[in-house]
Amino acid sequence: MPPILVVGNAVLDVVLGVDRYPREDEEMRAASRRTTLGGNAANTARVLAALGHEVALLATLAPDAEAAELRRLLAAAGVDCRHLVAAAGGHTPVSCILLHAANGSRTIVHHRALEELAFEDFRALPLETCAWVHFEGRNVAEVKRMLRHLRTTGFAGRVSLEIEKDRPGIDDLSIYADLLLCSRALAEARGHADAPALLAALRPLAPAATLTCTWGDQGAWALDAAGALHHAPAFAPAGVVDTVGAGDAFNAGLIDALLAGGPLPQALRAATRLAGRKVGRTGFAGLSRAG
Ligand code: FRU
Repeated sequence: MPPILVVGNAVLDVVLGVDRYPREDEEMRAASRRTTLGGNAANTARVLAALGHEVALLATLAPDAEAAELRRLLAAAGVDCRHLVAAAGGHTPVSCILLHAANGSRTIVHHRALEELAFEDFRALPLETCAWVHFEGRNVAEVKRMLRHLRTTGFAGRVSLEIEKDRPGIDDLSIYADLLLCSRALAEARGHADAPALLAALRPLAPAATLTCTWGDQGAWALDAAGALHHAPAFAPAGVVDTVGAGDAFNAGLIDALLAGGPLPQALRAATRLAGRKVGRTGFAGLSRAG
């Protein structure tokens, strides 16, 4: 097993560039189209690979042609595919994404008809050589078993958990993570006006963890275990062209910087800088350390 394992989803993204939003029941032309690798976990894994890490993805793949394409795209991105789980049925998850040319905003319609990962897919993995396991916060009951397994078997590496969307029971996962990566969408769904308010509300759930929350063009906030709040501004590229996966790139940037041993304020800045570089380009191409 490589030093980093990412657990979550691989999705086929069909991204249509539009210069305005369609009205309901309208037919309109897209200015561009690209079919690409997506899914939070797959995106984070591919960015970590681009930054030079050895990283494996644990995700289920459907028995269809789109899944073969996903496997090809993951391998081409340098992600270790040896632990992908072949599902017996179902279809590759697909996102139809409208990418607005004016500001790079993305509107995602997602379809999923594929079984989720099971604890059994995780239990047998040889994690002794792993320094970091990152989870996409979904599939709550099974991910909870995976997290508990790490904590009860003396896993020596670090554990991060992304909570992007509110899902029943998701808060119960927090206690197992060293690093919780939250989104503005989560904060707003819970009625918080800003990132620090969400982080303060989450603090009792994971007293020893580092908590972070991204907030688009306002940057990101982190609350460390000692109670200090840190802020890093957003790094604005010359033009925002594609925000698909900006949060996934932020997560990869933070994991990368913390693995390198950097202090939290610097790691937070490195992560917002990487997210800024991502939104300034189409897709993830060239998001290496040097690029
Ligand atoms: C971006 C993304 C897309 C994917 C969607 C899944 O963060 O992972 O690549 O289609 O979100 O919800």
